[in-house]
Formats: sequence, C-alpha cells, structure tokens
Amino acid sequence: MRYDTLIRGAWIVDGTGAEPFRADLAVRGERIVAVGALSEATADTVIDAHGRYLAPGFIDVHTHDDTNVIRTPGMLPKLSQGVTTVVVGNCGISAAPVTLSGDVPDPMNLLGRAEDFRYPSFEAYADAVDAAAPAVNVAALIGHTSLRSQAMGDFDRPADEAEILAMRDALRKALAAGALGMSSGLAYRNAFHAPQAEMRALVAEVGAAGGVYTTHLRDEFAGLIDAMDEAFDTARQGQAPLVISHLKCAGAGNWGGAPRALGKLEDAARHQRAHCDCYPYTAGSSTLDLGQVTDEIAIFITWSDPHPEQAQRALAEIAADWGVSLIDAARRLQPAGAVYHNMSEDDMRRVLAHPLAMIGSDGLPNDPHPHPRLWGAFPRVLAHYSRDLELMPLAEAIRKMTGLSAAQFGLTDRGVIREGGYADLTLFDLDTLEDVADYARPIAAARGIELVMVNGTIGYRAGAATGERGGRLLRRSERLSPQPTSSFTTEETP
Ligand code: ZN
Ligand code: CU
Repeated sequence: MRYDTLIRGAWIVDGTGAEPFRADLAVRGERIVAVGALSEATADTVIDAHGRYLAPGFIDVHTHDDTNVIRTPGMLPKLSQGVTTVVVGNCGISAAPVTLSGDVPDPMNLLGRAEDFRYPSFEAYADAVDAAAPAVNVAALIGHTSLRSQAMGDFDRPADEAEILAMRDALRKALAAGALGMSSGLAYRNAFHAPQAEMRALVAEVGAAGGVYTTHLRDEFAGLIDAMDEAFDTARQGQAPLVISHLKCAGAGNWGGAPRALGKLEDAARHQRAHCDCYPYTAGSSTLDLGQVTDEIAIFITWSDPHPEQAQRALAEIAADWGVSLIDAARRLQPAGAVYHNMSEDDMRRVLAHPLAMIGSDGLPNDPHPHPRLWGAFPRVLAHYSRDLELMPLAEAIRKMTGLSAAQFGLTDRGVIREGGYADLTLFDLDTLEDVADYARPIAAARGIELVMVNGTIGYRAGAATGERGGRLLRRSERLSPQPTSSFTTEETP
C-alpha cells in the first residue's frame, strides 16, 4: 500500500485516555487511513518516530485568536505547541458578527483595533478565515459582549426587549452558519449588567441549535459558587451544554476553594452536561480591571495606551514612582493590560487534574508582553505537570486537550487517533519536551514538539514552521445534547 505520509513506530496516545501503544500510522489526503503494523507500506513521506509519542493535535478550547488567525495566519504561538485547532470567541468577545468604529469596548480591545472588526456576519468571518488559510483549524463561538456591541449603544444596563430580539436574531443566524455556540464574559463591566433573563433568552437559541454555552463567570472571587449556580441554571434552562471558562478561585481570600468548586461542578454534571477549561498557571491576564486592583497579590502591567513606557513593570512600583494609590495609578494607565498573580498552586492543580477539565490556553496574542500561557500552556501540562510532577498520567493529560475537547465542542472526527479521523497530529519527544516561555521571557517556542500535522499537511517540523498551512474554519457539524455525559455519571455512580 502506498500512502502520502507514514509515521513509523511511535507510541500512540489516542486521545481517549487509553494506554499508549506502539504502532505505525498512515495518512492519505486529509485523513488517517491506517493504524497498526504497516511494515510493508510505503509513502511519499516516511517519518521515523521510534521513541516518540504521537497524539491527536491539541485543541485549544479557550483562545482569543479571532483576528490573529486572519492577520497572522502562521499562528506560531499555537502551532509550535502542537495545537492544531483553536476555539475563538471566548469570554464574551468575538470578531463576528461585528463591525466597529471608534473606541473598541473593553475587553473586545484584546482582539484588535476597530478596523480589525469587519465581519458583519459569521459567513463573512468564515470566508476571511478560509481566505487567510491559517496554519491551524479555527472553530468559533459568538461572544455575548460582541452581540451587545451591535445591538446596544451603552452597556451599563440590561438589554431591553427589542435589543434582546436583535441579539437573538444575530446569534441564530451565526449558529445556523456554523458557529459552535455562544460565550459570555459576565465579570467584565460591559456584560456585568446583563441579568440572567438576558442570558437565558440568548442561551435558549444556543440550546435550540445544539450548540455549547461557555462562560467567564460573573464572579471568580468570593462569589464564585453563586456565579457557578447562575451558569448551571442558565445552561439548564436553555437546554445547552455548559463549559465554565478558566475555572479558578481568584483572590487571596478564596484560596483553598477548589475542592468545593469542583464538588459543585461534579454535582451539576450528574444532571446536565457541564465541564470547565483551565490553564496551567497561577496568574491570570486580561485588561486592567479596577475591581481587581489590590495590594494582596502581585499585578504586572503588560501594556498601557496612555503610558506605554510603564509596560512590564509592577503596578505597585508604578504607583510608588508616581506617589499615588494603586487604584489611581491603575486609572491613569487604562486602557491597559495586566497579569494578576491571583491563584494558589494547589487550587490550580486540582482543577487541572479534574476529569471534567479541558485545557485551554486563554493566551492573548495581541499583548506585546503576553502571559506565558500563549506559547507554553500545552507543553507545560505534559512536561511539568504530567511527566515531572505526575499530577496525571500522560494519556489523561492528552485526553484533556484532545478527545474530551472535541466531544464537548462538537468537532466531529477530531481529537482522537483512529482510522477515518482527520490527520491532525502532534509528534513529540517526552524526554526533551519543555515549555520555554516564562513571565520574564514569554515569547518563546516550546522544545520537544517534533512534528505537527493539520488536515494531513505537515505545518511544523524540526522546530520551525514549514510554510504549508493546512487549517480552515470548522463549522459545527453535530448537535450537542445537554444531557450529562455518560463517562462521568458512570464513573461517579457506585
Ligand atoms: Zn475570560
Ligand atoms: Cu479568555
């Protein structure tokens, strides 16, 4: 048999959580066509993978790469980690269906400038992605704050009936055109005043279309548990599966809260389909938010529009230099970006290791001094947390970034290695694998990712992009049921 590509002798970690097994794998066109002992086979490209691990390409379920997949289609921060699909549109902010002029509402400014928002429909965005031919696949959520930006002139109030109808209509069209679902960012000031009734009306559209609802909770601090309750209730009423974004216990006063929060998630998951995503770091990052300014944790400024010279400095130092309070310094720096060291290592590890948690980087690609998660999240889970600290077996760590993710976001024929599946693949050397990016030097490719294939195209090899970009827009192709996932209920029912 002759194939396009043959990968010989790798340890295959198939994305289901099953033990790694040694096999050859053959690709023809965009698909995996054979897995097993293929010693007789030949191919145009043969890769000797003895001693290496071959996994499904990683799925970054939490990204803000919306405009970057078009503006910087090489997508090196993700491709170099072994990521083959990014889910954009998280935290309530998406590039579509949006057009903007003038000031970009917070935190939509994380995605770009006004001129980067030029996709009045989901189709327009999908066409732009396909025309850009990014190196990774792109699947897209519609952001609630983005819907608000098109339907409302001011954000510090609930949407009225006509505005809700306009948002529902825009959302319905985007879902019909292939959007995966809707995200919200209720903690941000431009969404915070949306009451649960507004969310329910929108999530009902998501449920009706068989999509997924993801939410950056209204409160990740002392009010975490209530905010989780709100999310479960909204999703249940709307008949939509739920993903809680970057689940965390933020703020020094809330450290140690992970067991309770995870218990809550498990309880909910027995009655409805509910999961979370998380990144393997104890600092968060976003726009600079006055509500999060405190002297209890370290806060670093990554960018500032009025004071670019203060970037890469601690907020406390800036305030001391200026002889003002932290909050006054923050006010002067806005709009700005920040890294908040606001989690405990123990809480973060518990969330990361939980069977309902997927890996999502939440990387911010437009930040000039980004949080290291942008370049390092996936190798860090595998190298630091699985290999070095043995927080979870390799196969489980891989499942949380492939099979589980594809299933929860409805990405058919991806996230697992099997005959007939798409050839999204990542080959790595577990001995040398290392996330290199850190807070001081965040722009750095990981070591140990040897080959990345997207839809059968080798996009990354020997530490560099090949220049062949195999990604495209992935439209939602299956209806997600809001019922609990069987794997979890059986695991937990004695
Ligand atoms: Zn968020
Ligand atoms: Cu986010």
